[in-house]
Amino acid sequence: MSEKGRVGILISGRGSNMVSLVEAMQDGRIPAVPVVVISNKPDAAGLERARALGVPVAVVDQKQVRPRSVHETRVVELLNDYKVDLVCLAGYMRLLKKTFIQAFRGRIVNIHPSLLPSFPGLDAQGQALAYGVKTAGCTVHFVDEKCDHGPIIRQAAVPVLPGDTEDDLSARILKQEHRIYPEAVALFFNPGLRVEGRAVHTLD
Ligand code: GAR
Repeated sequence: MSEKGRVGILISGRGSNMVSLVEAMQDGRIPAVPVVVISNKPDAAGLERARALGVPVAVVDQKQVRPRSVHETRVVELLNDYKVDLVCLAGYMRLLKKTFIQAFRGRIVNIHPSLLPSFPGLDAQGQALAYGVKTAGCTVHFVDEKCDHGPIIRQAAVPVLPGDTEDDLSARILKQEHRIYPEAVALFFNPGLRVEGRAVHTLD
């Protein structure tokens, strides 16, 4: 790994988690540099936010670059061009396949808006409300071949309150996402982080 960690962030939309990561790197809470933000959608609002923070951006449009395997290879090439040490998925709404996982094994992390292993996949907050859980939350985990499945680095819980809409619950969870994602990425760049099977050990 290079002297200061080099982070690539993948987004598909609004990019609020990307902003929380970039700000944490820029103010020294994460000992790493955000070297590129890549979107699979040209109209992702997060692209403008990344530019405003001075981070290089790139678009690999999934509608133009096809099939999926070619799209994935192009994204991997870009990340390698930028000599990325860690890939952070921040609302990247596309499953990663073999090429990607193999290229960055153990060096891809994701944030998911549920307490995994509950409610993987799309609309996690809606799934939690429909199920009637009393506690919801979010998870930062390593990415492996299975959807929302790899070893867990950090989780945070929030209450589900009577009368909550999906927007209410999503906002409460998002606040915690913005707290634990930078913490988890900082841990990745700490020498103390060790993964044994599903268990992630840290010195904190
Ligand atoms: C976040 O809530 C993130 O956890 C979720 O998408 C949102 C993106 O918001 N990701 C997933 O559901 C991935 N399975 P953001 O673009 O403002 O960070």
